[in-house]
Amino acid sequence: MATIEERYVQKFSKSVDWHERGTDVFAGGVTHQTRFTSPFAVYIDHADGPFKYDVDDNQIIDYVMGNGSLLMGHNPSEVVAAVNAQASRGTHLGGATTHEIRYAEAVKDLMPNLERVRFTSSGTESTYLAIRLARAYTGKTKIVKFREHFHGWHDYVTPESGQSLGGVPQAALDTVIVAPTDVAAVDRILTNDSDVAAVIVECNGAHYGTFPLLNPQFLQDIRDVTSKHGVVFIMDEVITGFRLSSGGAQGRWNLEPDLTTMAKIIAGGQPGAAVGGRADIMELMSFRDDPEWDSVGRVPQGGTFNAQPVTAAAGTATLHAIATQGVNARADAMALRLKDGLNEAFIQNEVTGHAHGIASIVHINLGAECDCDRGLCAMPYEHIYQTMPQEMTRAMRRVMLVNGVDMMGGRAFLVSSAHEEEVIDRTLEAFSASLKELREEGVV
Ligand SMILES: Cc1ncc(COP(=O)(O)O)c(C=O)c1O
Ligand SMILES: [Zn+2]
Repeated sequence: MATIEERYVQKFSKSVDWHERGTDVFAGGVTHQTRFTSPFAVYIDHADGPFKYDVDDNQIIDYVMGNGSLLMGHNPSEVVAAVNAQASRGTHLGGATTHEIRYAEAVKDLMPNLERVRFTSSGTESTYLAIRLARAYTGKTKIVKFREHFHGWHDYVTPESGQSLGGVPQAALDTVIVAPTDVAAVDRILTNDSDVAAVIVECNGAHYGTFPLLNPQFLQDIRDVTSKHGVVFIMDEVITGFRLSSGGAQGRWNLEPDLTTMAKIIAGGQPGAAVGGRADIMELMSFRDDPEWDSVGRVPQGGTFNAQPVTAAAGTATLHAIATQGVNARADAMALRLKDGLNEAFIQNEVTGHAHGIASIVHINLGAECDCDRGLCAMPYEHIYQTMPQEMTRAMRRVMLVNGVDMMGGRAFLVSSAHEEEVIDRTLEAFSASLKELREEGVV
């Protein structure tokens, strides 16, 4: 019987050549740090609905879903139609457009809390802009982020985000305070340090909920403590926006952040992102017909492709579908079917582990017991770390790919409304087979 790795090399044999070509052109062989995997990445050629197809033409059930950007699956027809229609009418119109206004109105319809919006081209830019706004608004320098929380790759959010620190200046690191997810600790930090501009949080917990938060209480407590200290509360809804509910985490739990960062689903599969929030903070970007303010005080923001018309078309079509077509309910129902089936598979195969998660994100933890309700998991960070050594998550991703399924990082499933029951059931068969094979190789 061939090993899992031998079957991987055999099944994805054409990817080996592309892997070699990629190594010649890309630093580290890849264009995103999370696409690096061993022995080589599978090279994808095209996608449709819940599936993607690699260069060997293997059909793969996809749960990476554009790193969380595709809540309706690949190429939903209304989004494709909107993109195609706009692509032949101009991809950059060199000025203000009606498209960007309709796009912003569609965002505000789903998140009424946002008094003003600005578009950017990525989630990283959005968290950067939100932090800049908070600093300008408060006249303070530091930001508080949480341990393991990921907000992109700019200097101010890199510390303790699961990323290395090469090239990040000490001066930037000195402005970042990393806190445990403990409201009393945040309160102490804000009491003892009067130079904090903002607290930023990944709304469903670090790494799209791999380290869950006890919500909604945790977010509400952070809202209260930041208000008490006059610190800007930034909810990073890059993942949770339009996913945890059609109105994001803030809609699901009725929360009022000062600023919200969004990306992924908001752009309907195109590159795009946004910041929104309180008018008195956002309006610090406005010109005031005052030369001193305009040239020195104002918060600047550029970005050649902000709200470019194709992104605006894709985003608007997606947000309209989310508002009117029950997209979230379908994706959530399929995620629940998947989660229940995964938990059943752990029991049937006598492998220690469990699946948990809310809305359309399902996480698995291998090799540790947990008695949570399989919704918002309450595992301590130390136990979660034990369930995700790199050898184990890479082995899980590899064996699932051999069995026809691509998981997010070997640890999670991002479910879309295009995943139908039959696709979920095929996934569960692949998962059971994978658990058996991993056990045979002594990984679990
Ligand atoms: C919560 C969160 N914030 C920010 C980002 C950065 O977004 P982008 O990759 O568009 O720069 C991500 C990306 O995964 C994210 O998950
Ligand atoms: Zn749990």
